[in-house]
Amino acid sequence: MKRTTVALAACFVLGFAAPARAEDAKALFARRCASCHGVDGKGQTAMGKRLGATDLTGLQSSEAAISVAIENGKPPRMFAFKGKLTAEQVQALAAYVKGGLK
Ligand code: HEC
Repeated sequence: MKRTTVALAACFVLGFAAPARAEDAKALFARRCASCHGVDGKGQTAMGKRLGATDLTGLQSSEAAISVAIENGKPPRMFAFKGKLTAEQVQALAAYVKGGLK
């Protein structure tokens, strides 16, 4: 019984915490950002073209600047995500974008 509990706890930690980070950011990007920026980040979606969404693959900004852009948005065309995403999610997305969306 005790061993089962430990095994389950290990599965939980290994399966959900550590390796899930990159995957999380990717899934989060697909869900929250891709409608405008596209899954590949190039902004070539119908909405992205209409709004003039930035091609995130060519972005020179620092990770910190990307975090600020996500939190505050780029009014009036990109809305703010502050309050919609946690600080950890913003951080993970900024790292994902800075890392070339891989
Ligand atoms: C409603 C469409 C829309 C959504 C959703 C959206 N963006 Fe944007 N984003 C834009 C537009 C439009 C711009 C260009 C704004 C400008 O330069 O005025 C932009 C610009 C940016 C920039 C560049 C900021 C800079 O420094 O020039 C980053 C980084 C960015 N978006 C990241 C994200 C991330 C990450 C998400 C998801 C959490 C996201 N965006 C969701 C429309 C969107």
